[in-house]
Amino acid sequence: MLRIILLIVFLSQSAFYSFGQSSGTIDQKVRALLKKMTLEEKIGQMNQYNGFWDITGPAPSEENARKKYDHLRTGMVGSMLNIRGVENVRKLQKIAIEESRLGIPLIFGFDVIHGYKTISPIPLAEAASWDLEAIEKSARIAATEASAEGINWTFAPMVDITRDARWGRVMEGAGEDTYLGSRIAAARVKGFQGSDLSQTNTIAACAKHFAGYGFSESGKDYNTVDVGTSTLFNTILPPFKACVDAGVATFMNSFNDLNGIPATGNSFLQRDVLKGKWNFKGFVVSDWGSIGEMIDHRFAKDLKDASRLAIHGGCDMDMESYGYVNHLKTLVETGAVSVKHIDDAVFRILKVKFQLGLFDDPFKYCDIEKEKSLVGHADHLDGVLDIAKKSMVLLKNDNNLLPLPKSGKRIALIGDLADDKNSPLGSWRLAAADNSAVSVLEGMQKYIGKSLAFANGPKLFTGAETFINELNINTTDTSGLGEARVAAQSADIVVLVLGEHGYQSGEGRSRTNLDLPGLQQELLDEIFKVNKNIVLVLMNGRPLTIVKAKDQATAILEAWQPGTQSGHAIAQVLFGDFNPSGKLPMSFPRSTGQVPLYYNYKSTGRPGPKDLVFWSHYSDEINAPLFPFGFGLSYTNFEYTNLKITKKGVRDIVVSVVVTNTGKMDGSEVVQLYLTDKVASITRPVKELKGFEKVQIAAGKSKEVTFLLSRDELGFFKENGDYIVESGDFEIMVGGNSEKGLNGSFTLDKIVSKK
Ligand code: GLC
Repeated sequence: MLRIILLIVFLSQSAFYSFGQSSGTIDQKVRALLKKMTLEEKIGQMNQYNGFWDITGPAPSEENARKKYDHLRTGMVGSMLNIRGVENVRKLQKIAIEESRLGIPLIFGFDVIHGYKTISPIPLAEAASWDLEAIEKSARIAATEASAEGINWTFAPMVDITRDARWGRVMEGAGEDTYLGSRIAAARVKGFQGSDLSQTNTIAACAKHFAGYGFSESGKDYNTVDVGTSTLFNTILPPFKACVDAGVATFMNSFNDLNGIPATGNSFLQRDVLKGKWNFKGFVVSDWGSIGEMIDHRFAKDLKDASRLAIHGGCDMDMESYGYVNHLKTLVETGAVSVKHIDDAVFRILKVKFQLGLFDDPFKYCDIEKEKSLVGHADHLDGVLDIAKKSMVLLKNDNNLLPLPKSGKRIALIGDLADDKNSPLGSWRLAAADNSAVSVLEGMQKYIGKSLAFANGPKLFTGAETFINELNINTTDTSGLGEARVAAQSADIVVLVLGEHGYQSGEGRSRTNLDLPGLQQELLDEIFKVNKNIVLVLMNGRPLTIVKAKDQATAILEAWQPGTQSGHAIAQVLFGDFNPSGKLPMSFPRSTGQVPLYYNYKSTGRPGPKDLVFWSHYSDEINAPLFPFGFGLSYTNFEYTNLKITKKGVRDIVVSVVVTNTGKMDGSEVVQLYLTDKVASITRPVKELKGFEKVQIAAGKSKEVTFLLSRDELGFFKENGDYIVESGDFEIMVGGNSEKGLNGSFTLDKIVSKK
């Protein structure tokens, strides 16, 4: 009897083990497996379901869940998302492996956006660090934790460039600049994927949302996108190409239509550009339900039509539309869809599964001991603390009010966000425990204990705080205002924490007004009446129009939503144990009416003269931002001297500058290089970031920083998508932000090259 059981076990496992163990390259193994698959089984690989039942319980009773369960058992599911925990992953994988005919392993996806259980600062904050090494390490920590819980695919990095702070998802990206966004995109892909996807602490990354989502009209989420070819090729697409060059395993398309064609069904984007010109070999997953949403776009007449348009458009996997699993078979059998498209999509999906090593061992990500050992891992806490400190931007520091003294002064901490342990985690912290952040109050108490006075002030919001519901912002209940004023009155210095709750930005969180929400300005006004030594700590997910606050506060620290170690990071910066070095990755507008606002704008035909009204401006607001892109102060000062521009060969340009720390405190400076192409065959921005280096310089010391400008920096994409470097005059600016620096110029002679 035992012998029979062993034989059955061996045979039942032989189905998939033969694929993993068979000889040959991955492509050869994929082709061999494809040959064995029926059309239904192929379509099954293109179908992704959301987690649908408490796996530890019996088979689901609910109709929809039961259908998914049956599909799982019959090889009609290729991937699951939002399944967490080794035990749950193992149970689902076991069903897929042992009950389906071919036993093809599932790939498990999750939104590991900025951390898994140990949460990093929101991605916009990480971008403010301009520290590619720290950003890569942050993604590495997230991948280590996620993979320990059975996840082998993250829906990140989000690389949507955006210039519109009304859009809630600015918190999820790297801001307004293509060059910075591209460098960060590559760093995050490398952090998630490491150097070997088959390692159990690496996970497949996913460049999203392809493409143009950050240009949603009027900053309203999911809204239509209409941009010209210059913006598409020169601003929106490069960060995605940077992900391809970094070896990203997957892409996710976007909800929006792009110039009239929904991205999910957009063959120009997914086939011509991504799989054609860029030769991308991975697969594209739809965004949640975006295949079916082409009906709402009024681009498809029903789900079958939408499925046809999606597969023709180059979308390989269907996230939660049920379109592919219900309609692709008929579409192929009636000739509406070629089986070649199916085979290409399935080849791509299986290839990633082989690269992950899932065919060698489908349970390789199900190490229960590793799962237990990683929660709250000291290294991870140190890692997210490090990048949180590096992400903070000192926006103002009159009278050197900061850093705070560690004794001898009465300090009052005020604000509803000051003792909030949930909001600092940001909105995309799905795997983190609620209220697992260190609050500002806890961080500051670690420094000055009971001598720290605290007053909550009016509540920022009332009611539930969840990922899927609107937050109810308090605009009427002023209780707490008097107590806050008293606390401010009896303090030498007030640390006031204002901003947004983590669930005021993120998906589905667009705002028409970028002022401080709720009663926060009223609170600041009250405090300003009794105390002028105000340190404003901003905790927000997007640029805010803090014009009045900027005048009222003596010092301003932009802390964003810094993640699990928020309170320690903020306290260490405030008390001077860390010298702030962040620089803004997005311009801060003076008013929402200026948006979209960005530093690399076009000069237009009417930049002036300004004596009459006939130039590009507003009659009720200046054009300049409140704080410009690339701006950030330090507790020390940096001086720029000795700008040198020399030619190297026909086209390469070497730019060097000497940066001196003229203050008394060691510090880091992000040295930025901006290029102006003075005349070109298309209108070019007034300036563009084309190089940066973050350098640590000891007090009183100097460092020479050198940049190389070559083809990739000197050229641009023409309207037909060709990349070109043209001859002509160029200007250079090197400094600590996008507005001021040392200036120089050079000329490129007689070269107009596409290569
Ligand atoms: C969401 C988001 C996308 C995310 C996906 C899965 O709607 O748009 O960024 O990865 O669904 O959660």
